[in-house]
Amino acid sequence: MVQTPALPFSAYAKDTRVEIDAALERYTEFDFDCPARLREAIRHSLLAPCKRLRPLLVLMAAEACGSDREAALPAACAVEMVHTYSLIHDDLPAMDDDDLRRGRPTCHAKFGEAMGILAGDALLTCAFEILARDLSEPAVAASCCAELAKAAGASGMVGGQVDDLAAEFQDAGLEQLVRIHRRKTGAMFLVSLRLGALVARAEPDQLASLHTYGERLGLAFQIADDLLDVRGDQATMGKRIGKDSDRGKLTFPALLGVDESTRRARQLVDEACAALAIFGEHASQLDALARYVLERNH
Ligand code: IPE
Ligand code: IPE
Ligand code: MG
Ligand code: MG
Ligand code: MG
Repeated sequence: MVQTPALPFSAYAKDTRVEIDAALERYTEFDFDCPARLREAIRHSLLAPCKRLRPLLVLMAAEACGSDREAALPAACAVEMVHTYSLIHDDLPAMDDDDLRRGRPTCHAKFGEAMGILAGDALLTCAFEILARDLSEPAVAASCCAELAKAAGASGMVGGQVDDLAAEFQDAGLEQLVRIHRRKTGAMFLVSLRLGALVARAEPDQLASLHTYGERLGLAFQIADDLLDVRGDQATMGKRIGKDSDRGKLTFPALLGVDESTRRARQLVDEACAALAIFGEHASQLDALARYVLERNH
């Protein structure tokens, strides 16, 4: 099977990903009464080689707002669990029907469709267990649960996925496309930053800056994902390419072409980075992550 290369964009990101991976590994030991095959399916998807951008955003936001990253690690893991669940379900036959993810067979391709659905369910619920139990301040934990639920739910990621499927082979325009991308992908980027900021008890102006950064970055990220589906390399990506046009997906390159999509993604990243000004050098990692989103080949 294809081996997805690790791709740190900074020594910080590389080291921090190791911490995130170790925490996810511990959280999914499930040494209580969890069926062995369920644990195997969860770990197959969650612990596969990947970028960990959303948990990195949680930790970077917390640090930019003056917290230590240890305090935000449970929130980082919770966000990654919700993201991995969304990928497992995104790949199901009833959705994008993919057989390759993170360089491995998709969860349902290896473990069967029912297990794919259930592994996703388990990851989603586990995320909220972790937030409620492992964030030290009860009020912060409650806010994080509410924000993550909203971002992942009907008016956020799930709603975006519904619209993404409904738009297949439809003649929709740019406004609808931006709405889909903001919800299916942008909402999880935004909430990752907000959770980091909440743990750090950020000031309103810090939250506002991170909000602008997250909005621009989330859209730029999904434009880059659409572009990689057109011109990426399957072995490097660890997932199939050329699927969007096969499935009649509404994407940036389909609507605006590759060059204009690239220009827009670049502009969004510039705007995202400009919004970080109030953090000064404390935002250097967030700045590097945003630049990486444009340059990535995976
Ligand atoms: C893939 O997300 C799904 C999209 C929102 C496009 P990533 O490209 O962040 O995937 P992983 O987490 O690194 O596998
Ligand atoms: C997936 O978008 C978004 C979510 C999982 C919420 P895509 O369908 O474009 O992601 P890939 O290309 O399969 O990773
Ligand atoms: Mg999809
Ligand atoms: Mg997909
Ligand atoms: Mg895609």
